[in-house]
This record gives sequence, structure tokens and C-alpha cells, in this order.
Amino acid sequence: MRGKTANPWYVKHLAVGRKQSNVILTRRLTLRPLRMQDARDFYAYGKDPEVARYVLWDPHTSLRQTRSILRGLMLDSRIDNLHTKAIVINQDQSMVGTIGLVNQDTQNQCAEVGFSLARPQWGQGLMTEALTAYIRYIFEATAINRLDAVHDSLNPASGSVMLKAGMRREGLHRGRIYYKGRYATVVLYAILRKDLEEASSKR
Ligand SMILES: CC(C)(COP(=O)(O)OP(=O)(O)OC[C@H]1O[C@@H](n2cnc3c(N)ncnc32)[C@H](O)[C@@H]1OP(=O)(O)O)[C@@H](O)C(=O)NCCC(=O)NCCS
Repeated sequence: MRGKTANPWYVKHLAVGRKQSNVILTRRLTLRPLRMQDARDFYAYGKDPEVARYVLWDPHTSLRQTRSILRGLMLDSRIDNLHTKAIVINQDQSMVGTIGLVNQDTQNQCAEVGFSLARPQWGQGLMTEALTAYIRYIFEATAINRLDAVHDSLNPASGSVMLKAGMRREGLHRGRIYYKGRYATVVLYAILRKDLEEASSKR
């Protein structure tokens, strides 16, 4: 089903118009394409087991491995248009996280967003700031109609970020994902293009 609203003319127009604009600027953050020079910062938090606890990847074991993961992410972004961005602190230009699409269903103009942030930066509202801006960017720069996000039910901070960024909680999927030795119950959130348009028109 590819409804008329899934790909209105102005989205295509915006996609072309914004092709050059790969960078998202917020008050405290810059979301920009990943670079090989991010490897050291990426490794610094990628090796942290607490950061990796509720994500599908395992803690990085060496800088060499981080470089290879980085290369893969950069390639995926170019080939599959996954729009993976480095999250960079404006004040000191350190790379402290990533945000990007973890999969896309082009048939239904649907995608899932995933994110992670270095532990020293937790609890300051930074991921809410990043996700809010990223959602806006995705709806402006692509034809995506629905953006999903899921989190392990044991990781409520992630759900709090999704909610504060305007996503709606749609339900629980019991034992939906097998990772790190157990079946995890995940919570599904989503935002539709029209949700954002409605929220913008109320402002
Ligand atoms: C989950 C994560 C993205 C949150 O990022 P953050 O920048 O700390 O989030 P914010 O500060 O924007 O908001 C966090 C919210 O969760 C709340 N929170 C933080 N820790 C919490 C916890 N253990 N339990 C419940 N809520 C918690 C905060 O109070 C805040 O809510 P509030 O503003 O209503 O008080 C970050 O901790 C992280 O990257 N973790 C590791 C990777 C990960 O889990 N990624 C998500 C996979 S789905």
C-alpha cells in the first residue's frame, strides 16, 4: 500500500532541495555524517558495557574494531541512505554518540531509528535534543511516512527520550528480540509524518 500521502510532491521537492544539507544543528549539538577521525571518540564510549547493555551491538574490543565498524556505518549510510549521523558536542567538538536509521521499508515508507550516547553525557536531555531534531530532518529530507523506535522494556530512559521527542507509545512486544542471551520484551514507539505536521500547526 503506497498511499498518496506517503510521498507527496513537496517531500520530493524538499529531498532535492536539501541534498547538500547533511548537517543538523541544535542548541548544544551538531549531527553530521560520520568521519574516520571519529574513531577515538567512538571507541571511548563504544567499549563501555553500560552503553552497549541494551543495544544489539557488543562493546567494542579495540580501536581497530571501532575503525572497521565506522567504515561499515559510513558505507551503509552512503549505499542504503541510512542517514547515520555522529552526535557532536558543539562546545568541544567531541563525538559522543550516533543516531541513524537501523532499517528501512521502502515499500511502506517506514523506517526505524536507533541511537546511543556516551555515558558521561547521559541525563542532560541531549538525546531528546538530538532525536527531536533528527525526526524533523528525516521527514523533511526523505519521503518516509512513519518512523519507529523500539527499546528494551528494561531500558525505560530510552522510552522517555522517544516520548519527549514526540513519538507515541504503541505497545509491548513480549519476548520479541533475542539478544545477549535472553528474549527481551520491547516497547514500540512511532511518529507519523502527519503527527509532526499537526504538532507544528498547533505551535
Ligand atoms: C537511553 C539514552 C539514549 C538516554 O539518553 P539521555 O541523553 O540520557 O536522555 P535524556 O537526558 O534526553 O532523557 C532521559 C530521560 O530518561 C530518564 N531516565 C534516565 N535514566 C533513567 C532510568 N534508569 N530509568 C528511568 N528513566 C530514566 C531521565 O530522567 C529523562 O527523563 P525526564 O527528562 O523525564 O526526567 C542513553 O542513556 C544511552 O545512549 N544509553 C545507551 C544506549 C541505549 O540504550 N540506546 C537506546 C537503545 S533503544
